[in-house]
Amino acid sequence: MDATIQKIKEIKENQDNWRKTECINLIASENVTSPFADQMYLNDAAHRYAEGKTWARHYQGSRFIDEIDSLTQNLFNTLFQCKCTDLRPLSGTQSNMAAFAATANFGDRIMTSAIQNGGHVSHTKFGTAGLIGLKETSFPFDAQEMNIDIDATEKLIREKQPKIVLFGGSVMLFPHPIKELSEAAKEHGAHVMYDAAHVFGLIAGKTFQDPFREGADILTSSTHKTFPGPQSGVVMSSKDNETWQAIENKIFPQITCNFHQHKLFSLAVTAQEMITFGQDYATQTIKNAKALAQALFERGFDVKAENNGFTQSHQVLFDATSHGGGKHVAELLESMNIILNKNFIPGEKINSKTMKSPAGIRIGTQEMTRWGMKESEMTEIAELIKKAVIENKNVKEDVKELRKNFLEVNYCLTG
Ligand SMILES: Cc1ncc(COP(=O)(O)O)c(C=O)c1O
Repeated sequence: MDATIQKIKEIKENQDNWRKTECINLIASENVTSPFADQMYLNDAAHRYAEGKTWARHYQGSRFIDEIDSLTQNLFNTLFQCKCTDLRPLSGTQSNMAAFAATANFGDRIMTSAIQNGGHVSHTKFGTAGLIGLKETSFPFDAQEMNIDIDATEKLIREKQPKIVLFGGSVMLFPHPIKELSEAAKEHGAHVMYDAAHVFGLIAGKTFQDPFREGADILTSSTHKTFPGPQSGVVMSSKDNETWQAIENKIFPQITCNFHQHKLFSLAVTAQEMITFGQDYATQTIKNAKALAQALFERGFDVKAENNGFTQSHQVLFDATSHGGGKHVAELLESMNIILNKNFIPGEKINSKTMKSPAGIRIGTQEMTRWGMKESEMTEIAELIKKAVIENKNVKEDVKELRKNFLEVNYCLTG
């Protein structure tokens, strides 16, 4: 066989074997699709164009793409009990771009969580909000409660009158206070948005919060974090109104042309799986996060939000300062096949040093839950992390041994 082809195959096998059979995957923004969703992912639509809106495309040949697009939108509308879904954005970042660009102009203000308090870079001047020229004001944050400070934020919304008030984020241990704050936002006509990228699967499973019923008008998300679909993006709305039309007109032609429409078959399967199993999966994911947080805390880790039961989501956050910092801990654990990431923690200053090695470690339990792990395995994982980080032991073989028993994806349908 040609040496280059041999190499390509070898790299692919290494990727699949390592992450699918030998690692404990705890990155909070990742997941694994079901074998049936994988099988549906590769199809002829990957080679086609379907520019424009569903059933009103600009090219010929897209009737089955329209059919699957419309079916998938209906599944998402059912799952999230809303009116409008657009599955064309290729990622959560593009979804935010469409929602921001359709609702605010250069120089307008967005109010959202600072990066240290869980905000995503796309919400900031360094990311999509900056690209569109939005000014940024952060929600005041209560580090004890690990959530937005409601009273101080309400005051600040009235004072700054932002055009967009954006809830949701990359670290969300607890539901955000949409209900408490959307009245102040809407008083001056702000758009209330919710970036559900991280907790989309928990919302689908009805175990976290319900942004549309709590006051959000627009929801943006990725489809591949706690929602275990192929990598993509989505924008949803509670109303089919002028704002929705403006968002759709940003998605095409300003942000996408072809939209990797082959993903729709796999997304549809995932949505149907979440309709069937979403509540069980999301419930177990949260139980696992609570169990892992408790077990790490009992083993001497400085896990955030002890006073509130550590977490109500898929995430656990701990301060790794006394263990050499986030970068050191994440790299050490990676060398032993425990895959997680460094993260800022509330109160931390952002500078060139902390960008390289922030103090925290962020963990997500959603993927290992899909591989079938329960609370007792979370205790085992905490013990392995303690042995590696606190006792300087090499636990790589123990990690592989534990993982060997969890090689089948759960909560899924077969074709
Ligand atoms: C809250 C939030 N929004 C948006 C994104 C961007 O998602 P994507 O990688 O799909 O662009 C992320 C990524 O982690 C995120 O955490």
